[in-house]
Amino acid sequence: MTPYRSVPCLAILLITLAAPSLHGASTPDIVVSNFEGDTYGDWKTTGQAFGAGPAHGTLPGQMVVTGFQGHGLVNSFYQGDDSVGTLTSPEFRIQRRYLKFLIGGGRNPEKLSMQLVVDGQVVRRATGPNERPGGSETLAQESWEVADLAGKTAILRIVDDAKGGWGHLNVDQVVQTDRKPPGLIANGTRQLKATAKYLHFPIKNGAPKRSVTLLVDGKTVVRNDIELAPGTPDWWAPMDVSAWKGKTLTLQVDTLPEDSTGLSSIERSNSLKDGAGLYKESSRGQFHFSPRRGWNNDPNGMVFFNGEYHLFFQHNPYGWAWGNMHWGHAVSRDMVHWEELGDVLQPDKFGPMFSGSAVVDWNNTSGLGKAGHPPLVLIYTAAGDPTVQCIASSTDGRTFTKYPGDPVLPQITNGNRDPKVMWHEATRKWVMVLYVGLPGNRHTVHFFTSPNLRDWTLASITEGISGTAYLFECPDFFELPIDGDAARKKWVLLAANSEYAIGTFDGTRFTPESSRLPGQRGRGFYAPQTFSGIPATDGRRLQIGWFQTETKGMPFNQSMTIPLELQLKTTSDGPRLTFTPARELAALRTKSHNLGALSLAPGAANPLAGVRSDLLELRAEFEPSSAKEVTFTVRGTTIVYDVAKQELIVNNHRAPAPLRDGVQRLTIYSDRTGLEVFASDGLTYVPMPVEQRATDLSVAVAVKGGAAAFKSLQAYELKSAWTAGRRTGLAH
Ligand code: FRU
Repeated sequence: MTPYRSVPCLAILLITLAAPSLHGASTPDIVVSNFEGDTYGDWKTTGQAFGAGPAHGTLPGQMVVTGFQGHGLVNSFYQGDDSVGTLTSPEFRIQRRYLKFLIGGGRNPEKLSMQLVVDGQVVRRATGPNERPGGSETLAQESWEVADLAGKTAILRIVDDAKGGWGHLNVDQVVQTDRKPPGLIANGTRQLKATAKYLHFPIKNGAPKRSVTLLVDGKTVVRNDIELAPGTPDWWAPMDVSAWKGKTLTLQVDTLPEDSTGLSSIERSNSLKDGAGLYKESSRGQFHFSPRRGWNNDPNGMVFFNGEYHLFFQHNPYGWAWGNMHWGHAVSRDMVHWEELGDVLQPDKFGPMFSGSAVVDWNNTSGLGKAGHPPLVLIYTAAGDPTVQCIASSTDGRTFTKYPGDPVLPQITNGNRDPKVMWHEATRKWVMVLYVGLPGNRHTVHFFTSPNLRDWTLASITEGISGTAYLFECPDFFELPIDGDAARKKWVLLAANSEYAIGTFDGTRFTPESSRLPGQRGRGFYAPQTFSGIPATDGRRLQIGWFQTETKGMPFNQSMTIPLELQLKTTSDGPRLTFTPARELAALRTKSHNLGALSLAPGAANPLAGVRSDLLELRAEFEPSSAKEVTFTVRGTTIVYDVAKQELIVNNHRAPAPLRDGVQRLTIYSDRTGLEVFASDGLTYVPMPVEQRATDLSVAVAVKGGAAAFKSLQAYELKSAWTAGRRTGLAH
């Protein structure tokens, strides 16, 4: 073939592709705009974001923009992400079946969108693909099918009302065409009747996130960003739609590849899909709470109410990783056997539902209760723009209603979150501690007071109080007696990483008497919260933390720690927090191996050789005597006591663990997802996520350097909290 022939051949091929197709669409395309001029022509701008005319590619300070056609495009990064404005087309008539365009930039359907407007109504809407740092400035083809609007007069409105990261939109090459554009379908919808309790969404971990809106009676109920599986899913995420039984549900997906089954494969049923092995999964913690499906982070709203412990939690019901923050909900009669009930707070116009707390409003100060039924009140952060504090209430501990007067606290900065509320008896007021990040990376806790949980007054700020700058996120605040002596009480102000300060509180202001103190000493522990509403007759301060156990390959991820009892105990350095496993955990014990008092010498037979269990509680009390190391091996993971250093080494992680009167008392809880080790009478708590090998059920203890004197050595095989003693009657 000569070079002379190849050129015309290519030209013919291009003409053929661009020519009207023989199968139907024979009309030429109509270019609405290609933004190639120096100005926007008849398009009108407001604000600054769109500049005086189309951009010629990348703007100063922007990542490289690609994927547009020709030289010009709409780029609302003009003067950076914070500029806002609109760009509106002149009227045009819809004369083709599709409107196709290139779009890129930030993802924010409310604040960043190209809208097709007919008769004053937004009939189609598209946004960009990026919602977090990183991402890509490449424009991609999208289209709307507009056959139903044929002959109508329309305008296009490009809106940039977003500030901060990814606060801009890019658009180019808007064309009317009769040829079905390949690639993504915008605003695909599916209608289906709510005939069953759940809709099941197909999830592929890592797939592009699609913005999925549920509409009922024409109104948006909730919008979530979902990694919709284009084909075979990794797992199915249930959405409880029982509230709309019998109604028609409309699901709308912002963009979807044409051949994706993400929308069409959504199923309905009354039970969990693939739920047969629920709670028996190989990587399911058996006595650590984890959600049936999806992701959890912080425990929220922990409260004892009407004989039940309530554990709400940061939940992504539709993803394996963080996102779409809902409040999940579980209840228990003993903090050990949990029953997950389903989400109670879902994202709304105020934003996703971030962390917060719960109180029982015994005197109905809020007016949200009914005669004889004091309300359970949730106080939480709605993390939209602005980020505000809201409340919701319930009188039965099952159904929650968001307060119509929300928000109860306006934004202080956009880094204000995680309200923890308690009743302060001395001043007869509610007290809220709220994390507030101030400009310049300054971490503070703001104290507010309220007579009724609805009206809040700023009482004090920790900024400037020495030793409080560590207070980052999820503060907790409570009073504890020292050594159980009710006459000697102190207040503890605690941060998400479990560091704390001890001091006094007069109802408005916290005055620390200690420096910043370390809390837990392990890994993967965060955002703990203590229960409110514990009856005075019990009097314990009980805490649960987020246990960052990663469970790859499972349809769920992360968990909670076991319940911990917190106390203040005197040490030579002053009072310190201690952590001990809540006594309720004893209900899990099955077989007990009491190995009594014994002296263990190096090279001696393993006294725990007869113990084999994937779930274990091990208790040992020993004097190291001449031993240099005492090593417990639980299913292959080592817990070493280094006698000379008086340190505990859990899975190679060191933590101080002083002998107490020459004795070390260790308690080890071992689950499939990790260990929790307690030493030094609770002064040392070492949580440690570890994925245990399913095949190794062995337990051992050995010493090095000399013999150790064991006063007691006790192993308990444990049963699963998911099957044993769970309340019946609540379906999964
Ligand atoms: C802590 C945290 C909170 C926030 C929540 C959001 O893990 O960042 O500060 O409310 O998670 O899920």
